[in-house]
Amino acid sequence: MCGIVAYIGDLDPKEVLIEGLKRLEYRGYDSAGVAVHDGDSVAVYKMAGRIADLERRLSQVKLGGSLGIGHTRWATHGEPNDINAHPHPDYHNKVFVVHNGIIENYLAIKKELEKRGVRFRSETDTEVISNLIALNYTGDLTEAVIRAAELMEGTFGIAVIHKDEPKKLVLARRGSPLIVGIKDGCFFGTSDVAAILPHTRDVIYLEDNDIATLTPDGYKIISRGAKTVTRLLQRIEWSLEDAQLNGYPHYMLKEIYEQPEAIFNAMRGRIDIMEGVPKLGGIVPVWEELKNCKSIILLGCGTSFYAALAGKYIFESLTNLDVDAELASEFRYRRMSFLPNTFVVALSQSGETADTLAAMREAKRKGARLLGIVNVVASSIAREAGAGIYNHAGPEIGVASTKIYTSQLVILTLLALLLGRHQTLSLTDGVRILRELETLPSKAREVLKKADLIETIAQRYHRYNNWLFLGRKYNYPTALEGALKLKEVSYIHAEGYAAGEMKHGPIALINPEMPTVAIITRDEIYEKMINNIQEVKSRRGPVIAVCNEGDEKVKEMVDEVIEVPETLPFLSPILNVIPLQLLAYHCARFLGRDIDKPRNLAKSVTVE
Ligand code: G6P
Repeated sequence: MCGIVAYIGDLDPKEVLIEGLKRLEYRGYDSAGVAVHDGDSVAVYKMAGRIADLERRLSQVKLGGSLGIGHTRWATHGEPNDINAHPHPDYHNKVFVVHNGIIENYLAIKKELEKRGVRFRSETDTEVISNLIALNYTGDLTEAVIRAAELMEGTFGIAVIHKDEPKKLVLARRGSPLIVGIKDGCFFGTSDVAAILPHTRDVIYLEDNDIATLTPDGYKIISRGAKTVTRLLQRIEWSLEDAQLNGYPHYMLKEIYEQPEAIFNAMRGRIDIMEGVPKLGGIVPVWEELKNCKSIILLGCGTSFYAALAGKYIFESLTNLDVDAELASEFRYRRMSFLPNTFVVALSQSGETADTLAAMREAKRKGARLLGIVNVVASSIAREAGAGIYNHAGPEIGVASTKIYTSQLVILTLLALLLGRHQTLSLTDGVRILRELETLPSKAREVLKKADLIETIAQRYHRYNNWLFLGRKYNYPTALEGALKLKEVSYIHAEGYAAGEMKHGPIALINPEMPTVAIITRDEIYEKMINNIQEVKSRRGPVIAVCNEGDEKVKEMVDEVIEVPETLPFLSPILNVIPLQLLAYHCARFLGRDIDKPRNLAKSVTVE
């Protein structure tokens, strides 16, 4: 949510900032801006709209110097317009700030500053930060940021420059990610490594309350109490290519097609077929407690929550544990009480979702142990958890999550299987499940071969305004996720429902104008789903079925059929969701939507 890129060094700052912002645009895209210091003065260009608009504007101006900050915004305080866009100068145009996060006490600070003669131009909380820093400035920007940070409540990742210090860039973080990039005398600041990957892979992840000062001669990080601290220099493993389109028209489509590989990568090196157990290095530090745990709570937001819900069915299939799936945004405010030795497992692609992080902290405070299933290495959730399993799925850039969902389900299966093997599951069961998992990449490839058929179905149905997605048991979460995908990228109203609940309400909506997507797999509740499909058909509702290959019974009943290979019932959501992702993608394409940057959404929601 919002993106920061900042730079000091010999390269052209305008180029570095614009290139970086383009790579961050998926994080926020309602307005953007840069401030560049040419050695004497600071020039600010900012506007509502996309980075391409800003780039066009900047191509008409010459900006020199070696220092600058840039931002792409997803509005929280104040509508997206030119004035509310970042960077925000202070009242006297000395301090310039770009900011991710929310300053919760900004109104109180604003009132105080107004009493002292400051006049505000925007409706943002960020403008309070630049003025607070300016008021605390006595000749050293770092000192001023330290003092201002003490007064601010809430979350922030900020990059700051000062007109009188043309060779200094200051970064500060609390609860919003910030990374320092390093390359022979050039230094970068960013909220997401994708922005600086063309320049460097050597990075430092700042921790909460860190303040980093970058100059052409080096960098210094201080933490709470103004102590100089050393942070680990890390090397980014994935390449620039991973973060580019590589011929695909959209990241969403590219990432849908990356699923066979993402599924494979989630298990790579993690399978001991002889023993019928997964090997999960990241949980070794907590293994003694984990193997004796009685209760697990799976936690997430958005698609990660639906993965958690699917995980509940997987855990129920493979373990004797007491398992629940919870929405992090609800869970964080609940009155929590845990059985002894409860593990809270947080699922998150970005590793930065504010509600998930807050829920973990609350659970920890109340005695739960934490684990993370996270894609972004060294992200806040990964660090808060302290132990867990990485997806290793490469960057996911399309706002609608696709490959991480299937990857999360594979990892949940590995974790459940590991625990199950320490409970009642036999060696034969373990081997059978692992062997089936190993077939999933090629089965996912088979599903992707149905893309043309799915495109045709989307062409027929994309003008229908209301859709219902039905599934039961393992595929109830698939129905929820299918409906979410369609909503997110095509803006078509869709509801995901547990098929058994249909007659308690949604059946009232069924008519020839409302397509139902039915997910039906040959499992123990197959016949129940057949009944639900009948109920829709007898009310003349069109039905698109996702069923197993060769299911003649379903074929005869419904209007459209997408066949997927058979697998174990609790693994079927991994294959069944793929056609739904493609259906959403193609409906959105036929409707001319901005698929990778759907309106009002953000990839990483770092505010509550
Ligand atoms: C946002 C994204 C969703 C994502 C959710 C959780 O809403 O648009 O695609 O599922 O955040 O994100 P996380 O990074 O925690 O998985």
